[in-house]
Amino acid sequence: MMKTILITGGAGFIGSHVVRHFVKKYPQYRIVNVDVLTYAGNLENLKDLEHESNYYFIKGDISKIQEVENIFSYYKPTGVIHLAAESHVDRSITNPLAFVQTNVIGTVNLLQTALKYWQDDLQNKLFHHVSTDEVYGSLGETGLFKETTCYDPHSPYSASKASSDHFVRAYSDTYALPVVITNCSNNYGPNQFPEKLIPLCINNILHGIEIPIYGKGENSRDWLYVTDHAEAIDLVFHQGKFGETYNIGGNQESTNLNLVEMICDLMDQELDRDKNSSKKLIRFVKDRPGHDFRYAIDANKIKNELGFKPTYNLKSGLEATIKWYLQNKNWLDKVTSGEYKEYYKKHYQGEK
Ligand code: NAD
Ligand code: TYD
Repeated sequence: MMKTILITGGAGFIGSHVVRHFVKKYPQYRIVNVDVLTYAGNLENLKDLEHESNYYFIKGDISKIQEVENIFSYYKPTGVIHLAAESHVDRSITNPLAFVQTNVIGTVNLLQTALKYWQDDLQNKLFHHVSTDEVYGSLGETGLFKETTCYDPHSPYSASKASSDHFVRAYSDTYALPVVITNCSNNYGPNQFPEKLIPLCINNILHGIEIPIYGKGENSRDWLYVTDHAEAIDLVFHQGKFGETYNIGGNQESTNLNLVEMICDLMDQELDRDKNSSKKLIRFVKDRPGHDFRYAIDANKIKNELGFKPTYNLKSGLEATIKWYLQNKNWLDKVTSGEYKEYYKKHYQGEK
């Protein structure tokens, strides 16, 4: 019988790359993607996989335990890679309860159901929880997040992810559920919804719309190209030690202002516009409440123990990302019509 892996949130940004990676690389696995298709979930991200014989899609909501049970009962997965989440910090500030519902309750529903179906034989089972470095809080000018760094979340998003991480560890410690957790830095690349900084910037430059930078643009993030994250998840899923946490990072730190200026320069080149024309769109706007100053990852554990090495640096990753968005303007147009327009107006109104 084929090994069945349940991937949650596979129609989203990172999930779609993880699904593609596993469907293509492991034809001997049956990959079941469960996704409720929120504004961030998009089956077009997986169009190329529709006819793959080892790929299945189910529209389902992880915050409803009966739906999760139905999937376990029918497909009998022996592995879970859990990515489904509400993922945007700004939306968590205006609607925190949605984050509790999916990120906390949804995760516990999956843990509880996995335990129910696996507890008689925990051999060859694994629950891989995909989390974020934001659970560790905010760094000052120096220092790096290690796997041992204390949790100190500040936004409803990071608090909900921290809570879900605690539940995953609790199921490991209390019930011996085999788990691994990965905490990754900021991702970017094809198919990212343009509410996040990099695709928002690309979309705005394309349409000559102002680029909103929170505060002074001095906040700093460590950026990882999304297919490198998928590769790291594969390594941890197959070779990670039960109960362990692995931080994943690209070692590509940049302040937001520096990052946006890099994108402006690359867009000017790609669009054949005058040098510095995109930079004129930059606007400094009111800061995000509770805005974490700096995230940076110490990725030595996954490098030394599992041999992980990212293939993209920030420049090559941004070039590839910009090329993808310019070649997929239809995708961008579709996801920025409807709900996105409302969100954008509401979130940035008063800033323009
Ligand atoms: P995303 O918002 O693009 O995708 C999330 C997906 O989850 C969507 O397809 C959505 O429809 C689905 N989903 C939401 N609620 C659901 C529910 N109740 N039931 C089933 N499906 C549901 O997010 P992303 O950026 O791809 O992030 C994926 C995961 O990786 C998240 O757990 C996030 O916390 C984590 N992560 C993201 C980043 C990043 O930079 N984007 C970095 C580190 C970790
Ligand atoms: P984002 O892509 O939302 O990821 P996260 O908040 O999870 O790190 O934001 C990345 C950084 O960019 C963060 O410091 C906030 C900042 N930012 C802006 O300056 N302007 C924007 O319009 C957005 C969406 C983000």
